[in-house]
Amino acid sequence: MSRSAHPAGPRHADVYPEGHYTAPPADLNVLDEKVWARAVRRNSDGVVTVGGIEVSRLAEEFGTPAYFLDESDFRARCRAWADAFGPDADVFYAGKAFLSRAVVRWLMEEGLNLDVCSGGELTTALDVGMPPERIAFHGNNKSTDEIERAVRLGVGRIVLDSFQEIVRVAHIAQSMGKRQRVQIRVTVGVEAHTHEFIATAHEDQKFGIGLAGGEAAEAVRRALKLDGIELVGIHSHIGSQIFDMAGFEVSARRVVQLLADVRDEHGVELPEIDLGGGLGIAYTSEDDPAEPHEIAKALNEIVTRECEAHGVATPRISVEPGRAIVGPTAFTLYEVGTIKPLEGLRTYVSVDGGMSDNIRTALYDAEYSVALVSRTSDAEPMLSRVVGKHCESGDIVVKDAFLPADLAPGDLIAVPATGAYCRSMASNYNHSLRPPVVAVNDGEARVIVRRETEEDLLRLDVG
Ligand code: LLP
Repeated sequence: MSRSAHPAGPRHADVYPEGHYTAPPADLNVLDEKVWARAVRRNSDGVVTVGGIEVSRLAEEFGTPAYFLDESDFRARCRAWADAFGPDADVFYAGKAFLSRAVVRWLMEEGLNLDVCSGGELTTALDVGMPPERIAFHGNNKSTDEIERAVRLGVGRIVLDSFQEIVRVAHIAQSMGKRQRVQIRVTVGVEAHTHEFIATAHEDQKFGIGLAGGEAAEAVRRALKLDGIELVGIHSHIGSQIFDMAGFEVSARRVVQLLADVRDEHGVELPEIDLGGGLGIAYTSEDDPAEPHEIAKALNEIVTRECEAHGVATPRISVEPGRAIVGPTAFTLYEVGTIKPLEGLRTYVSVDGGMSDNIRTALYDAEYSVALVSRTSDAEPMLSRVVGKHCESGDIVVKDAFLPADLAPGDLIAVPATGAYCRSMASNYNHSLRPPVVAVNDGEARVIVRRETEEDLLRLDVG
């Protein structure tokens, strides 16, 4: 998210206006592997490739804008999370980051579970045969229909988010003659260091049931009395795009404290805790995210230590990474259109997409990097703002970045780390067509979500 301080070094403040940039990189042609999917390289002709396929060929075959996703990177990240947590824990991929049938198949093949938060995500998962018991159902306002479907199908757990929902799920399950496994989502009171809109564990927001005032303990009391539900654990998700491990540790400590309180009051040892998702990724060279094994080690240690201190059995831990799995695996490819140098300010580079395929910059002031990928250039760096083709000035994809000064219409540029919350939050604003997602693996590219067509738009418009 946005940084307030610039690292030391030349700022070019006398040359360029205020912004979120440091000096231009020494060589604009070098791709920082921190922000690009693992199969991305620049070949000897200067063209960027993914899985050995040149972006120029990809643009010809699939058009622009388009998201290209490195399938082997996605699978490797799934395995890294599964290996880091080991057989005594569960990893649930957060489908809200990006979900499609192919993604569900990859998850099943790599042994991950899935967190869904809507009937639509549930349908996608079941459509390709994900076993319901491997699915967790989330949301702060699940509809009666969603709850009925989830219970009827036998999802592994429903994460309860309010007092009303405790009763609602219990009632629905009981009326079907079922006992639904549930967790209660608590708000641990941590101020996660991230953008306000994606922090979720402070008191004044819509998610979860507060811990500090005793509401969570009361929720447990009520849940334990109801026949339709089996309370198996406590859930905490503190926010998203977080780099500081301290928040996760406080969250783990407070959740274990609640387990101890529940044991003391009810003589019941809840067998599970879920510590949510939220681990940050590198969007620019300045970001330094933790690795899955580091987060696993830190969480395991703290949970084990706290459980020993309280004399409660160590619960089975689960986590729900979304962004950290899919985010780094994809980039968005755009064609450069109009280029507008504004004297003394910066150059506005318009691309053929914009806030309809990446709303994150407008919504969260998110930072991205960008590179010229269809060729190399030795031209001077040019302070640029990559903007879309939509009808508002906030339609910014990359706020501050350097591109070569000889950039021309028709060049291809790519924005890395767009695998999470870009296609999944894409819109039809201005009746634009949502771009395809193309998976690249073993030197082959295949569409996993096709580009929308104008017929798709008209099909919905039944007036
Ligand atoms: N678990 C729960 C209960 C969540 O609400 C979320 C994300 C996750 C897991 C996954 O979090 P992740 O590992 O992906 O950070 N649209 C925003 C992010 C919203 C996150 C919502 N919940 C963005 O583009 O930054």
